[in-house]
Amino acid sequence: MAAFITEKILSVHHWNDTLFSFTTTRDRALRFENGQFVMIGLEVDGRPLMRAYSIASPNYEETLEFLSIKVPDGPLTSRLQHLQPGDSLLVSRKPTGTLVLHDLHPGKHLYLFSTGTGLAPFMSVIRDLDVYDHFEKVVLIHGVRYVSELAYNHYITHELPQHEFLGEAISEKLIYYPTVTREPYRNQGRLTTLIESGKLFEDIGLPPLDPAVDRVMICGSAAMLKDSRDLLDRRGFKVSKRIGEPGDYVIEHAFVEK
Ligand code: A2P
Repeated sequence: MAAFITEKILSVHHWNDTLFSFTTTRDRALRFENGQFVMIGLEVDGRPLMRAYSIASPNYEETLEFLSIKVPDGPLTSRLQHLQPGDSLLVSRKPTGTLVLHDLHPGKHLYLFSTGTGLAPFMSVIRDLDVYDHFEKVVLIHGVRYVSELAYNHYITHELPQHEFLGEAISEKLIYYPTVTREPYRNQGRLTTLIESGKLFEDIGLPPLDPAVDRVMICGSAAMLKDSRDLLDRRGFKVSKRIGEPGDYVIEHAFVEK
């Protein structure tokens, strides 16, 4: 059996100069849990060039979706950004990852902390009906530098609440909190700052973070992961140390050096 599945690109969407997403065909044998990642890539000079990417689509969809930055001299993203429908994409056979529902203890509120393309796994998680069965509120925080980087903003705000199967749960339980750091926007500042100051909780109408009832998934840059962890540890949250061992929060390290 070949090491990778070859999928076909179905569509490509450029959010701005630095960010794009694309959908591909999905092998029927590829099973995954919402929040997991796979290795994806291209054949370059006769060899697979692969990186870890969260699957942004939920696991019941027939297609796969990925969100990527464009790094001008990035070995993979400099090539990926030119993908066109019909092109091939290599996908690994074994999805994995830590941002999964069953590695969190039961709780009342699920917080999803993301910056930049760290949003991707949570696009899968917020479209998982199971998540809404387990939590009273799901709070998706997406921190970016510029407004144009708020990928899926319109989709989350206007389309998901109308979704045939998810609409009701999303309208009732999902709180979406986009925040921008380098230009004016209705929510401004780093998510860590908004949590420390209490501004986030004032804005969303929930009490400050409490390890007794709140659960957290974190996906972002190395610096963001560190600061978020410190903030949670200081409040008495316990991390899930490995896959299969539940904690109060889970963290994804797989993308940091892309
Ligand atoms: P800032 O503009 O203040 O650096 P990046 O593209 O560098 O990954 O940043 C994406 C978003 O994450 C930006 O809004 C950035 O804010 C924010 N950010 C960067 N470092 C941290 C951190 N340590 N904790 C929280 N947010 C961060």
